[in-house]
Amino acid sequence: MTHNTISISNNSQQYIDLEEKYGAHNYHPLPVVLNRGEGVFVWDVEGNRYYDFLSGYSAVNQGHCHPKIIAALVDQAAKLTLTSRAFHSNLLGEYEKYITAYFGYDKVLPMNTGVEGGETAIKLARRWGYVVKGIEHNQAKIVFAKGNFWGRTMAAISSSTDPSSYSNFGPFMPGFEMVDYNDLVELEKAFQDKNVAAFMFEPIQGEAGVLVPDEGYLTGVRNLCNQYNVLMIADEIQTGLARTGKMLACDHENVRPDVLILGKALSGGVLPVSAVLCDDEIMMTIKPGEHGSTYGGNPLACAVAMAALEVLKDENMAANAEAMGELLRSEIVKLNSPFVSLVRGKGLLNAIVIKHSNPEAAWDLCLTLKENGLLAKPTHGDKIRFAPPLSITKNQVLECVGIIDKSLQSL
Ligand SMILES: Cc1ncc(COP(=O)(O)O)c(C=O)c1O
Repeated sequence: MTHNTISISNNSQQYIDLEEKYGAHNYHPLPVVLNRGEGVFVWDVEGNRYYDFLSGYSAVNQGHCHPKIIAALVDQAAKLTLTSRAFHSNLLGEYEKYITAYFGYDKVLPMNTGVEGGETAIKLARRWGYVVKGIEHNQAKIVFAKGNFWGRTMAAISSSTDPSSYSNFGPFMPGFEMVDYNDLVELEKAFQDKNVAAFMFEPIQGEAGVLVPDEGYLTGVRNLCNQYNVLMIADEIQTGLARTGKMLACDHENVRPDVLILGKALSGGVLPVSAVLCDDEIMMTIKPGEHGSTYGGNPLACAVAMAALEVLKDENMAANAEAMGELLRSEIVKLNSPFVSLVRGKGLLNAIVIKHSNPEAAWDLCLTLKENGLLAKPTHGDKIRFAPPLSITKNQVLECVGIIDKSLQSL
């Protein structure tokens, strides 16, 4: 089959078969083949339109193909895309100034994927542990919360409590400890160890099924980190950038992490852009040659990230996420469906928990939602995340609740 024949076909199954035959089977996607996106909508190759309730796992907060972000991409792509960090570019410093002012940190270290951001934060914390805190050589520990998800690298799966992430991939990274999420007593116990350099956690656990901690948890973490001289690393890759109704989820409790990791929507879903932000005491412990990435901080990423951040503020996306999230949750609760045992979330990072005798009910519901024009994906069997782009309007939310209602009734 030539590339030409593939591009003119409008048969979804043909594309699915190609992936099945030639691609690794490391995902289990919904059977829908998309070829266009605009705002809150995506279209499949047959021309059907869907509401996107996953938003690329919160990478597309600004909406698909946001014209301002795409304009920045196209404009910069025609000028210069990559210098590597062997040379300077005219955009890197400008971007670094922009993003550090935006979030209030001394410095940024630009990377590409979210998981690289996590790796970077851990390296920074270990280095800070040795040269600033005075931890004995090679003894540094990083504490994580059970149920965390920050990617698929060896370090990320070494801190995972999900067997499907880590089984048969050992041996694992040493120096990682696990505590229960949302448990400050356990956290304080872990902090008794003077070799603990950092606590890395999500302010709301996304992949775990949108687990929102008790109010006061973030403040409690901040206080314990201060008390025991431990770095607070907030993985805001999924929760940050207006998704939960504030620019950062930590803003809900006015808490400032020592190390902030951003990714996903930092490019509005256009290309992989991640960033680690912290102050000089931490960032300056890393010297030339000790960390980096060929693509990290490339001019194309810098231009796109500045546009993506600008759009979030210009279009008041945090406030809209807050209001539309309230509306979405309250309207779903009003449906009073016997199959929904729980609706939870903050802003537009939400999940419903499905209660049904059929263990495949959440997957089946997602197939029905798709038939009715809304794309969502189950996580951990019985949870379905509802996280549309943050530009969604009131009427669109109400239309989506209608689709959810109709789909639930067919369960
Ligand atoms: C909280 C969190 N951290 C890190 C990552 C990893 O990001 P990436 O897939 O871009 O490496 C994810 C991805 O879902 C995430 O949800």
